[in-house]
Amino acid sequence: MTNETFTIAIDGPAAAGKGTLSRLIAERYGFHHLDTGLTYRATAKALLDAGLPLNDEAVAGKIAREVELAGLDRDILSKHEIGEAASKIAVMPAVRRALVEAQRRFSTKAPGTVLDGRDIGTVVCPEAAVKFYVTASPEVRARRRYEEILGKGTAADFDAIFEDVKRRDERDMGRADSPLKPADDAHLLDTSEMSIEAAFQAAQSIIDAVLSRNA
Ligand code: C5P
Repeated sequence: MTNETFTIAIDGPAAAGKGTLSRLIAERYGFHHLDTGLTYRATAKALLDAGLPLNDEAVAGKIAREVELAGLDRDILSKHEIGEAASKIAVMPAVRRALVEAQRRFSTKAPGTVLDGRDIGTVVCPEAAVKFYVTASPEVRARRRYEEILGKGTAADFDAIFEDVKRRDERDMGRADSPLKPADDAHLLDTSEMSIEAAFQAAQSIIDAVLSRNA
């Protein structure tokens, strides 16, 4: 955080609701928002498109340094295969170093920023003014993703999605470099039995309290 910038860090596992929450918060406060998962996805997509291997750290690191934050398109990058590939290359320190540097530069934009991901409060922006850890049980997260896919009129297999959520959690929480975990000073928002709207209200009260303390 710089004197002019107010940074909000939002971490949590896939499908916990952190994306929606981050967008609502950014809109409410007029802050810039970066979904850092898209930076890992863009790197993975560039490798896949070029037919490059997903297990060569030097190559993946070079591609990560070329990722443009301005051109990240959620619709193009949201594909399941891209998410899987992203979580594989996200274990590589060279990839993380390149993307974290770009994310840190983004985080200093005035008047404020909201970054969501897995390691924002712990690694990317440890000095963030407010940190949230948004989570929900694997069953609830798999159910949300299942209903989202059905809602788009596409067939979905709940058991396969549930296994996928658990596998992604294992990879994100178990890796050596920047594993997914709450920062010591993060506010926990468990959306298993809380709507996103209720989580947003809770987050707003916390942010407002910090903003008025800093005023
Ligand atoms: O959040 P999303 O599903 O788009 O992220 C894709 C993958 O990118 C995650 O499974 C995770 O492995 C990786 N990621 C990460 N650190 C972040 C954001 C995403 O390792 N800050």
